[in-house]
Amino acid sequence: MQPSDLDAVLQVEQNAYAHPWTRAVFNDTLQAGYQAQMLMREHTVIGYFVAMQGVDEVHLLNITVSPQYQRQGWAVVIMQAMHTWARSVLAQWSWLEVRLNNAPAIHLYQRLGYERVGLRKNYYPDGHGRREDAIVMSLQLGAG
Ligand SMILES: CC(C)(COP(=O)(O)OP(=O)(O)OC[C@H]1O[C@@H](n2cnc3c(N)ncnc32)[C@H](O)[C@@H]1OP(=O)(O)O)[C@@H](O)C(=O)NCCC(=O)NCCS
Repeated sequence: MQPSDLDAVLQVEQNAYAHPWTRAVFNDTLQAGYQAQMLMREHTVIGYFVAMQGVDEVHLLNITVSPQYQRQGWAVVIMQAMHTWARSVLAQWSWLEVRLNNAPAIHLYQRLGYERVGLRKNYYPDGHGRREDAIVMSLQLGAG
């Protein structure tokens, strides 16, 4: 993902989330050198991930599939690409947070072997002046 991709990425982001990342957040993550990869079909963005590398771990910050491409297996493809990158930087663990009520994403992560390891109270804004809890999940990355 490059800054020149952000118009297309933001369109997907705004269609997919009640609380989308802003252009400034994407710009900051790209400038910080975070890993950001897109899955494309010709000139159309199907989805993308953004992840941060730690010492022996990676932290998934965003995974999104464009609404019209959801439920077709693309998130699994994108997560596999994320794990391939994570192994290439010798990460042992992958970590992420997910909203407690985001059943599709929780199912996705469980299907890929992620386990719930904690709860962060009041982690996300809910848009109505309140906060929502986040589940913390992790996966130990094997050689595979
Ligand atoms: C979560 C998300 C990335 C899944 O993308 P997707 O391409 O539809 O997922 P896939 O088709 O690859 O599905 C993989 C698995 O995810 C789970 N899943 C996906 N959508 C689901 C839904 N609506 N309900 C329940 N489980 C769902 C299932 O376990 C599914 O496996 P299955 O088809 O064998 O049952 C997508 O819904 C999305 O972009 N949501 C908005 C952004 C978001 O919430 N991102 C996660 C933030 S933590």
